[in-house]
Amino acid sequence: MCGIIGYVGNKRAREVIISSLKSLEYRGYDSSGIAYVVDNKINIIKKEGKVSILENNLKEDIVSNLAIGHTRWATHGKPNEINAHPHMVGKTILVHNGIIENYVELKKTLEKKYVFKSETDTEVACALIDYLYNETKDKLKALVKAKQIIKGSYALAIIFSDELDTLYAIRKDSPLILAEKDNESFIASDIAAILKYTNEYYLLEHDEVAMVKKDGIIVYNDKLKVIQKVKNVYNGTSSDVMKNGYKHFMMKEMHDEVDVYKNIINTYVPNYDVFELEKNFGNFSKYTKITIIGCGSAYHAGLVSKNIFEEYANIPVNVEMASEYRYKKIFPEKNELVILISQSGETADTLEALRKAKGYNLDTLGIINVHSSSIARESKNVIYCLAGCEIAVATTKAYLAQVLILDLLAILCAFEKKVLTKEEANNYLSELKNLPRETKKILDKQNEYEIIAKKIYKRNNMFFIGRNIDYALCMEASLKMKEISYIHSEAYAAGELKHGTISLIEENTPVIGIVTREDIASKTISNIKETKARGAKILLVTTEKLFKNYQNDPFYDDVIIVKKYNVFLEPLLIITPLQLLSYYVALYRGEAIDEPRNLAKSVTVE
Ligand code: F6R
Repeated sequence: MCGIIGYVGNKRAREVIISSLKSLEYRGYDSSGIAYVVDNKINIIKKEGKVSILENNLKEDIVSNLAIGHTRWATHGKPNEINAHPHMVGKTILVHNGIIENYVELKKTLEKKYVFKSETDTEVACALIDYLYNETKDKLKALVKAKQIIKGSYALAIIFSDELDTLYAIRKDSPLILAEKDNESFIASDIAAILKYTNEYYLLEHDEVAMVKKDGIIVYNDKLKVIQKVKNVYNGTSSDVMKNGYKHFMMKEMHDEVDVYKNIINTYVPNYDVFELEKNFGNFSKYTKITIIGCGSAYHAGLVSKNIFEEYANIPVNVEMASEYRYKKIFPEKNELVILISQSGETADTLEALRKAKGYNLDTLGIINVHSSSIARESKNVIYCLAGCEIAVATTKAYLAQVLILDLLAILCAFEKKVLTKEEANNYLSELKNLPRETKKILDKQNEYEIIAKKIYKRNNMFFIGRNIDYALCMEASLKMKEISYIHSEAYAAGELKHGTISLIEENTPVIGIVTREDIASKTISNIKETKARGAKILLVTTEKLFKNYQNDPFYDDVIIVKKYNVFLEPLLIITPLQLLSYYVALYRGEAIDEPRNLAKSVTVE
């Protein structure tokens, strides 16, 4: 979604805004803009396209100590200069992340007073605040009133042209943090934007209004009483949001996977003991049914774990897309656990799905990467993914962290349900020791995936096929491929292909077959051969052990072989090579790997 930054202090605000917007660009990159104060006057510059275009259009020598900036992922109106933020109406200038749901009604009323220039809901919010300020003659009261009137989600950073040394901020269901340090203060969508300056921040809550000055921040509740905020500390450094020598964040983040695994192991099960896992995660023995909810890759992580929970922990699992769960009839059960998976912890559909589950009094567990995000705070319990900042729009390390956490949970549940003995559970856990090393080995073999990518990058269609857990892995691998390379790619259950979709296989169509389950390997391989017979080029993705059975059967054109691992951990090793394959395909096609078209990292709208 959109990225917001506000700065007041002694540095050159323009420089702070541009560098912060670059860190926030993963949230949207259709257009960007800045409003800054020079000689007691507000200047607004907006440009279509990436932040670098805005930067190139700003004069080098602007000295300004107060500014707000925005990078946009368009929701209302085209990504052009008029619709870009900041918007200014009367004395009010603001940037917005979210969606104002009642903007059509509000616009009708406000049109009597204001002439609107853009197609955005944001300009309407700006006019409303200006109108309320004129009416109340009090900015804080105007903002509290605006919060009562606006429906939808919003994070707003606001300047009033009659008070050019102060920023104001309000939010609802879109994230916003505040920070102050050494005579300068910030408003930002997330910590990535300001990590260069500080790692301490406050979370602004729904019922609060912030007044942000150079020498400090005052936060009021909705009765306009000053409240004391508790500082949060981000446990990381500014290098977390830098490429550290890699060409793209996606490549850097795939390399981070090794440390993410180490971090998860050291934090939750350093001695590979199921009892320490229980101490850190809790006791799940009372649950007889699990519902897992997420969007995109988080949903796919749920699908992978469904196979594991059901097969090896004997617990039935429903996996739901959050956007569907929100609007469907559900059948809550007494001992049901609802698990919400989200990297950002701010995805609007997942957040609403959580609220729906809570409305039915179901126990909720968030598996979340971003600390203190909305879903983390609203879930009954939370397990953090510990993947660090993820900047590339296409998730890699955070998805794998989600799968690993779910795998650990499945081992724990299997133990608590007496499906596994303590010894068996600990045997599985002790194999975690090798996970970082095996992942590193895969990352070191990048050129193998690059060679395969070179053979397939010109194709227009491809298929990922597999059965059961391999099908769930196909869904993630296929999403990765299509979102960054723009090649049309489908994940298909291998046995289902012949019921229609096989008609799309042509001479040289790449078919990537994932085969890890020994008991059904021959079935999937028959399906792969059916596509081969119709001209497909086959990339087989399998384990060392299974490959031995098939190496003399020349049905594949290329092969990716990973180490045979235990059933809980094997999926992790399958995905890393396929993430790398997508990366190289996109690289050969010359696409914007970290910022694929039409996408944004944190989807805070419905
Ligand atoms: C794909 C991707 C998305 C996210 C989805 C959910 O690479 O990143 O599909 O997985 O938008 O986002 P979170 O996990 O933040 O809820």
